[in-house]
Amino acid sequence: MNKTLDDVNVAGQRVLLRADLNVPLRDGKVTDATRLERLLPTIRELSDKGAKVIVLSHFDRPEGKVVPELSLKPIADSLGRILGKPVAFAASCVGPEAENAVASLNNGDVLVLENTRFHAGEEKNDPAFAAALAKLGDIFVNDAFSAAHRAHASTEGVARHMPSFAGRLMQAELHALEKALGNPQRPVAAIVAGSKVSTKLELLNNLVTKVDILVIGGAMANTFLAAQGHNVGRSLQEADLHGTALEIIKTAAAKGCEIFLPLDVVVAEKFEADAPTHVVKIDAIPPGAMALDVGPATVDAFISRLPEIKTIIWNGPLGAFETKPFDASTNTLAQAIAQATKDGKVISVGGGGDTVSALKLAGVHHDLTYLSSAGGAFLEWMEGKVLPGVEVLSKGFSNLG
Ligand code: 3PG
Repeated sequence: MNKTLDDVNVAGQRVLLRADLNVPLRDGKVTDATRLERLLPTIRELSDKGAKVIVLSHFDRPEGKVVPELSLKPIADSLGRILGKPVAFAASCVGPEAENAVASLNNGDVLVLENTRFHAGEEKNDPAFAAALAKLGDIFVNDAFSAAHRAHASTEGVARHMPSFAGRLMQAELHALEKALGNPQRPVAAIVAGSKVSTKLELLNNLVTKVDILVIGGAMANTFLAAQGHNVGRSLQEADLHGTALEIIKTAAAKGCEIFLPLDVVVAEKFEADAPTHVVKIDAIPPGAMALDVGPATVDAFISRLPEIKTIIWNGPLGAFETKPFDASTNTLAQAIAQATKDGKVISVGGGGDTVSALKLAGVHHDLTYLSSAGGAFLEWMEGKVLPGVEVLSKGFSNLG
């Protein structure tokens, strides 16, 4: 069990807070501040309790070099505005510049240090770089679940040098994921969709051993349908993975996991907005057509199963949701799951970049039990992988530095 902010007295301490400030930025403006908003409880609690809050984060992928356009400065300014108090900024995350900025902090102050990925030692998890970061603080708080799949100096290495704790956002993410997949109320249904089976193989293989119903949507469903002998026309699919898809179906049967594949699909001859479409059964896809969304009969069939399901975990939109009308099935399902959640009938957890965008477009992103702010980390967690940034917190302070 990880230690949390309930287990430490932070008053007067220099707290190194690993946050994920990797937010979308256009023309120097943060275009989606969800990740910043979700950090506020931890930052406010630390500051109110009299800690000196020193925020560490990566931004984008500068690959160990200083790239001025990838400075965290505009994001630190945005954080200050949302927080409603001044946020200081240091133009380096290690060395004299960072040390001086930390030395000038009063209890309750908040400081953001420059992009950790400006240093090659960050992604290499270089012990000397981790030690240089650790020098700046007395304790480490990790609130960056979304970066916890990276074994980097600021997510993993630094925790070996000092007492380490989970922040409130990390705690919330882990709690929600544990409820969804670790120790869920059953039956559990997972909805997995996306364009390729190849990118979600590990996920599918893990889920068939853990969930009771696995709903497969998106273009990856075409691969399963084709593997079962259906003609999928010009639909996107991976012909080399038919054997793999059949293996997954076989494993699922052996583990008692029901695979729920589309019964009907929405097809078009062209993939473009407002293209003429038809709904066809999966054994009637015309040779020249592409399946671009699952059909209404499929969504209705799954919605009619909702009363028997206690937990839903969702990763990936069912269709090509960014282009209308191929967002229809995702919207209908999202609304039904949101309603069942609001009625207290189901625990619902979603995550992954596209899933969050799709749920936002459907207008229900506030209505699931929990919507993870993580992309890759959420996927790796669902794959059953140990996340180094989480593991190191539960191992405790090993002072390997
Ligand atoms: C994310 O946005 O998923 C995290 O910040 C991790 O970013 P990365 O994929 O560049 O490590």
